[in-house]
Amino acid sequence: MQHVQFYQDEFTSFLNGFTIHREPISLYNPINYILQLGGKRLRPVLTLMAAEIFEENYTTALNAALSIEVFHNFSLVHDDIMDGAPLRRGKETVHEKWNINTGILSGDAMLIMAYQLFESYEPKTFQALAKLFSKTALEVCEGQQYDVDFETRNDVSVSEYLKMIEYKTAVLVGAAMKMGAIVANASEEDQNNIYEFGKNLGIAFQLQDDYLDAFGDPKTFGKQVGGDIIENKKTYLYIKALEFSEDKNKLKLLDLFSKTLDNNDEKIETVKTIFIESGSAEATKTAIEAYTKKAFGVLESMSISEEKRMLLKAFGNNLMNRTV
Ligand code: IPE
Ligand code: IPE
Ligand code: MG
Ligand code: MG
Ligand code: MG
Repeated sequence: MQHVQFYQDEFTSFLNGFTIHREPISLYNPINYILQLGGKRLRPVLTLMAAEIFEENYTTALNAALSIEVFHNFSLVHDDIMDGAPLRRGKETVHEKWNINTGILSGDAMLIMAYQLFESYEPKTFQALAKLFSKTALEVCEGQQYDVDFETRNDVSVSEYLKMIEYKTAVLVGAAMKMGAIVANASEEDQNNIYEFGKNLGIAFQLQDDYLDAFGDPKTFGKQVGGDIIENKKTYLYIKALEFSEDKNKLKLLDLFSKTLDNNDEKIETVKTIFIESGSAEATKTAIEAYTKKAFGVLESMSISEEKRMLLKAFGNNLMNRTV
């Protein structure tokens, strides 16, 4: 196994070779734009690493890794339309730079390309990849719909929230790793274990994403800080703040999250103060750690070398301490 940076560099150069020079450019330019905008490349790196964990050369997994990253970027283009987000990776979102219709169609094309990338695999592997991909992609849609439905509800429970983030985010991280295992012809037990590891890491990852959305540094975060508060997103921060607050702040939160405003500066400041003073910010940090530990627990049950286990743990710990 190599270090994480190695897989990141190899993936980036493979992705650069994927730049599309076809007409109409108004369809493909936004695709090249979002794919070249950077990002952490977390999921494709996990695909490559999973392949090597199960004794297959990472190069075999490059197309699967690219498929996952193209799908992820498709989901971001559509997510930014749904969330009314102005910024992505420190730059204008696709629908802001072009328009909503462009975001919809370029996104659709990326979803199709993601499938197309499996065509280089043998029928048996192709079928396994496509089957996992279809199941995962549908779950992402379900998670995204729950996320939107929750915006206008004020009684979302922690377990509903956890199911929502499992679907919209965590299953894709699990699938990214399972695809590496599929390409490597790993046993079903290994495939399922690495999926569980990725899924729990993905839950921790989305909790952290929610935390950073409120408390990230606008200079480095790359997205609009406070975006979830503006959109009345029912995050763990919000649900726990409601649970922990006295009546006065509880009513304040319920009121602020029941409307959309023209100027959100004051709302964001008030809500962040309640998140901190109620202890929900701390509780979110604790939950991030708990799901990361849960993921590590799955690794303990797997018969992989200590070196590989350590590498995956270092990856998980880095994610927990990230600022973007
Ligand atoms: C953003 O994912 C969407 C979530 C599931 C939170 P990332 O934080 O991995 O986005 P990039 O690819 O690094 O920009
Ligand atoms: C995104 O969740 C999940 C998907 C894109 C499927 P968010 O809406 O929290 O992601 P960001 O914060 O915009 O990256
Ligand atoms: Mg969003
Ligand atoms: Mg969203
Ligand atoms: Mg977010």
